[in-house]
Amino acid sequence: YPLSDLEEQLLELLNGKNAIYFAQGAYDSFDSKVFSLLGTLRGGARKGLKAPSTLKEIRGLIHEMRLFKSPSEIEVMREGCEISARGHMRAMRFSHAGATEFQLEAELHHHYAMNGAPHPAYGTIVGSGDNANILHYTQNSDALKNGDLVLIDSGCELQGYAADITRTFPVNGLFSEEQSALYNIVLNAQLAAFEEIKPGGYLSHANKLAMEVLTQGLLDLGILTGDFTELMAQQACKEYYMHGLGHWLGLDVHDVGDYKINNVERAFEPGMVLTIEPGLYISEDSNAPQKYKGIGIRIEDNLLVTESGHENLTLSVPKTIGDIQALMQQTKSA
Ligand code: GLY
Ligand code: MN
Ligand code: MN
Repeated sequence: YPLSDLEEQLLELLNGKNAIYFAQGAYDSFDSKVFSLLGTLRGGARKGLKAPSTLKEIRGLIHEMRLFKSPSEIEVMREGCEISARGHMRAMRFSHAGATEFQLEAELHHHYAMNGAPHPAYGTIVGSGDNANILHYTQNSDALKNGDLVLIDSGCELQGYAADITRTFPVNGLFSEEQSALYNIVLNAQLAAFEEIKPGGYLSHANKLAMEVLTQGLLDLGILTGDFTELMAQQACKEYYMHGLGHWLGLDVHDVGDYKINNVERAFEPGMVLTIEPGLYISEDSNAPQKYKGIGIRIEDNLLVTESGHENLTLSVPKTIGDIQALMQQTKSA
């Protein structure tokens, strides 16, 4: 039906029903339309009209439906993730000292648009050097410096669905010793967390697996000191990893859907899509040894929970030091 027929159709559809499910308070004009229709139904008993006696909140039901992706939604998300992955690779290839953060942003956004995704799913973050340690840095105005890392957190929106990828790579294509050491800790933390992304797995367990790797890694580098078990109990690595491991992904970047049911954490089930994004942020004003300061690293992928485990939808952007350096080197020598 055309929208202009809504009122007329709704009266028919609501007449005689027991309950209405709708998102009260979402749209004032729709609220008043529904309440006025209810008034008409209540006042029309002699004409055989009968109003529903119950109003029910529909958001919880919709959110649960949004959490579990249908095959066609998965198809769109796969494509959006692939477009975003290619955008990241394009930014990696373009990167060089003297380019600006906003130029890298432009490389990504251009790629999204040219591939049918009209805009990014959220404000792209391009943070080079110490800017990577500002979690919601979107100014993207600095020039890239030789020897720095650059962190890019960006994804396109395709047909309403978000992708959310982070990669961290050297401006000049080569990781220093300190950057490599920290990078591999974050990568191994992410891979450890991936083990838990399967039906029956829990986000909190995945986070614990990641934190074990981060804590041991920071101990090995002398950034944390003390006893491993005590540091884990104190969540000491949180000083350098100050955000959650991941979140549901779908029509929103931080998508709807309950993480707990009756206050108990829910297990993963096939059809859910989430991000896994550990990081380490050693800012210039931290307590870490000088040589690690100004290094901020996050690695973020988008995972679909499957019957047998998970599918990484953003696998095609290089992530190991070898693969990143190879991709960037190819470009430099081309
Ligand atoms: N880009 C937002 C996030 O990673 O959660
Ligand atoms: Mn992100
Ligand atoms: Mn994210």
